[in-house]
Amino acid sequence: MKHALLVWLLRAFARKQSPFFVLDTHAGAGAYALEEGPAKLTGEWRRGIGLLLANPPPALADYLGLVQRLGLYPGSPLLIRACLREGDRLACCELHPEDVALLRARFVRDRQVGVHARDGYEALRALLPPREGRGLVLIDPPFEDPEEYDHLLKALRGTFKRFRHGVYAVWYPIKHRAPVRAFHTMLAESGIRDILAAELVLREPTDPTRLNGSGLVVINPPFRFEEEVRAILSALLERLGTGQAGAGVRLVRLADE
Ligand SMILES: C[S@@+](CC[C@H](N)C(=O)[O-])C[C@H]1O[C@@H](n2cnc3c(N)ncnc32)[C@H](O)[C@@H]1O
Repeated sequence: MKHALLVWLLRAFARKQSPFFVLDTHAGAGAYALEEGPAKLTGEWRRGIGLLLANPPPALADYLGLVQRLGLYPGSPLLIRACLREGDRLACCELHPEDVALLRARFVRDRQVGVHARDGYEALRALLPPREGRGLVLIDPPFEDPEEYDHLLKALRGTFKRFRHGVYAVWYPIKHRAPVRAFHTMLAESGIRDILAAELVLREPTDPTRLNGSGLVVINPPFRFEEEVRAILSALLERLGTGQAGAGVRLVRLADE
């Protein structure tokens, strides 16, 4: 869900000729092997990306085409890189040393990509606003720290003041409703303008130990985001949903322009 919407946002940026900058604050390893290591053990991908590749819905053609072209299972850095044009730039931040090494190896001698072994929230202060004046910021934290939402909000509020026209995409897990509701309220009251939350829920989010769905908050969503993203989410639900109670697609406006 996150990657399909990310690709849509990148294409929207590429509709204008002038160069753009992408900051991936929590970049991960860049790409993942599905037939070895933990992915092979759980086999979860077969009920996710595996199903989509076997029967690609038209609304996901662009994203799935990239997955096939890139091979492995591409993470955000590889997908973003694939959507850059000459002159666009990507900065990836990651704290885990092994992932940093993998990213550096992947982008060695790539003058459009910078890999930073630094805290992604701190990078929001250091790397924004970008010299291009246009930029997409992907914030995709692990949500292992109970205070992640607070760190996120604090960083976002400060960054928005300095880079108001940036497009921000923030992924969040939907395990149960209470933390999501609290996050939405904090955003609505943050003073940040033009915020939409897009959610895909696969089953009633009542079991806090399971990932029952996920959401992407988008600040300053580009033109036509709402309509086209609804089509992408509906296609995902059709292929991945099991028809369980509480499943659905939601687009919630948290703050007006
Ligand atoms: C959910 S994964 C990122 C996945 C990646 N964005 C993708 O879509 O392929 C979160 C990553 O954030 C890293 N991380 C955790 N805290 C961080 C921080 N404060 N700054 C930068 N990276 C961090 C973790 O090591 C992990 O690789």
